[in-house]
Amino acid sequence: MIASMPGIKTNVIKKLHLTFALSVIAFIMACSLSSLQAQIKKTSIHFFPQARIFRLDAADVSYVFGINEKNQIQTLYWGQRLSSEDAFSTPQSSAEISSFDPSINTTPLEYVAWGGGLYVEPDLKITFPDGNRDLTLVYVTHTIEGNHLTVSLKDISREVYVQLHYQIDEATGVLRRSVKVQNKTSSSLKIEQIASATVNLPRAGDYQVHYLTGRWAGEWNLQTQKIQPGKLTLESRRGTTSAQNNPWFAIDRGSNDPENGDVWFGALGWSGSWRINVEQDQAQQVRITAGLNPFDFGYLLHAGETLKTPFFYAGYSHKGIGEASRLLHRFEVNTLLPHAPSPKLRPVLYNSWEATGFDVDEAGQERLAEKAASIGIERFVVDDGWFGQRANDKAGLGDWYVNPKKFPHGLKPLIDKVHSLGMDFGLWIEPEMINPDSDLYRKHPDWVLNFPGRPRTEARNQLVLNLARPDVRDYVFHFIDQLLNGNQIAFLKWDYNRNWSEPGWPAVDIEKQKKVYVAFTNNLYSILKELREKHPHVEIESCSGGGSRVDLGIMRYTDEVWPSDNTDAFDRLSIQDGFTYAYSPAVMMAWVTDSPTWVNHRTLSLEYRFLSSMQGSLGVGANLNKWQPEDFAKAKKMIAQYKSIREIVQRGSLYRLVSPQNDSEHSVTETVSEQRDSSVTFAFLHSSTMMYPFPRIYLRGLSPDKMYKIESLDGKLSAATPSLASGSFWMEHGVDVDLRGDFQAALFRLNAINQ
Ligand code: DGJ
Repeated sequence: MIASMPGIKTNVIKKLHLTFALSVIAFIMACSLSSLQAQIKKTSIHFFPQARIFRLDAADVSYVFGINEKNQIQTLYWGQRLSSEDAFSTPQSSAEISSFDPSINTTPLEYVAWGGGLYVEPDLKITFPDGNRDLTLVYVTHTIEGNHLTVSLKDISREVYVQLHYQIDEATGVLRRSVKVQNKTSSSLKIEQIASATVNLPRAGDYQVHYLTGRWAGEWNLQTQKIQPGKLTLESRRGTTSAQNNPWFAIDRGSNDPENGDVWFGALGWSGSWRINVEQDQAQQVRITAGLNPFDFGYLLHAGETLKTPFFYAGYSHKGIGEASRLLHRFEVNTLLPHAPSPKLRPVLYNSWEATGFDVDEAGQERLAEKAASIGIERFVVDDGWFGQRANDKAGLGDWYVNPKKFPHGLKPLIDKVHSLGMDFGLWIEPEMINPDSDLYRKHPDWVLNFPGRPRTEARNQLVLNLARPDVRDYVFHFIDQLLNGNQIAFLKWDYNRNWSEPGWPAVDIEKQKKVYVAFTNNLYSILKELREKHPHVEIESCSGGGSRVDLGIMRYTDEVWPSDNTDAFDRLSIQDGFTYAYSPAVMMAWVTDSPTWVNHRTLSLEYRFLSSMQGSLGVGANLNKWQPEDFAKAKKMIAQYKSIREIVQRGSLYRLVSPQNDSEHSVTETVSEQRDSSVTFAFLHSSTMMYPFPRIYLRGLSPDKMYKIESLDGKLSAATPSLASGSFWMEHGVDVDLRGDFQAALFRLNAINQ
């Protein structure tokens, strides 16, 4: 076009051509530079060789560490995302405080072995066959492949290699860390302690830590305490995760605002004995070390062998503990669960346990199935009692054949019936357990965890099969595989009703026996993995007498978890509140059961019980044979209501507006849909005193400028509530619900209107 312009000389035209071409090149370069910058803004792992710095950035988080002058790996920063322009200089180890606290203790290290005068918690402790117990790890090399960084360390003189693995999740900034130890020496060594990671917080003295404690039927209590000089140990020595402590923590700067302020959080993905230490050391450095529990531990690593630790997940939020939970929920649903990033919404299930106990049989279950189908149940689950000689908890575990008296024609007629009613079929199993009164135990008394000549302590009349043994592993895999091959089963409720005692493994050499702590859990995972590969349509629930095996390790292989055997709808408010600090409502099964409950004889209305359970993944566990027509009508209506909001509840962003653990009279949760175009709010009044009205509810997470219609699904809104208002109005002015009396509840929904 330029060339054809009249009156312009050719060399001028050439010049113009050149200028044009140059500006196109400059434009392209600028574009690719800015797209490079955009890429760096997205998710990146970089090594800056001159400064010897590693930098991981994703979502709102930056994590920076480097190689110091002693070739140690030193933490530099973990917190809100920094500019890509921000540069760090080569780390320098910290000075000793005094002759009593040498530099190795005062330098915030990413992974430190016991050796060289270390007094803070070591990540790794090894005894060599010559009696040497000193280990000093230094940087050797590293690799970056996609979003995976591996930093290799080695002892200063021995051929022991430690690889530190890092991954950062693009959407949440959640870091996944683990370690692989390789024994390249020519002899065996004994690992006496091994963590997956240490994370260091910015030096400060005003931290408080939150963690979860509990017991059977009383799980998920949130504890909060100031971090002071010394050490807080959260752990399980029980062989499995346990409800006593859950492997999760969150740390903030003493803020009481759940939606503001810095929060660092972490969770260990391990379903065996574990330990998390939160330590404030001599130099006021707070460091968190998470990994296998060193109690009764000793892992013999032969020449040429490697040991991999579980994954430790660590995240940061600058929007309070509320956002910290939401990040974890998002990470679980989008990255961790077996069908991530798009796990199926949980179907509404019926489970017969509280209705029938061990008295399951074909006719009784069919009767319940008909009733369950009539209210909109989508999955029918037969619980304990269908197999072996299982009349009560004294016999049968281990004998996984269908009880011929209870189901004379096998499970098929019942399964066909369940299918004909439009539901899928689920079955309870407890694969790792055995009753001494079972054919399996009579045949294989050596298959349980035991120390020869010592008592075998029973709990609920059962012993623990030693899943570390290859023959036991095969037996367990094959009976489940056969069960799934022979029956159209869509769902397994995988139970585990006691912890370990006498954890001996006499079948192997003495020095290998303590490997049971690792081999048991790894075999459990490998069975679950293999079953899932062979039977991709089967879903699995992790249950351990309630919430004793809920962790990010088992959740990689299971679709949902059972938080507690306590199904009292009021107690559940606290249980569910605690649970959601760490785990998503998308996996949190919650049944509506009978009233008064077996737990505490409390009487609650059916609406209240439904509203309590509808905050998670809804199930029904009541004895439908005792229900009246009006109960069926109400249940049918509420299940339909739940289905209309389930996507919001299971996929949305949860705001614990009023926690039942902090406020004895009320509790409120709100969940906002992913697109922020709807929300559902559950409000509970525990008891009315002195005629105080229900406190105004200030919603969160809406778009301030969008207009939302409010709809009451259950309970009453105050008469003055407008039917349409902006997100700002609902968040700043708030909503009044009209609740009076004891144990009352309400549910309302907001829907954005198209503008
Ligand atoms: C414990 C579980 O938590 C219950 O739901 C039930 O399945 C029983 N075990 C069955 O023994």
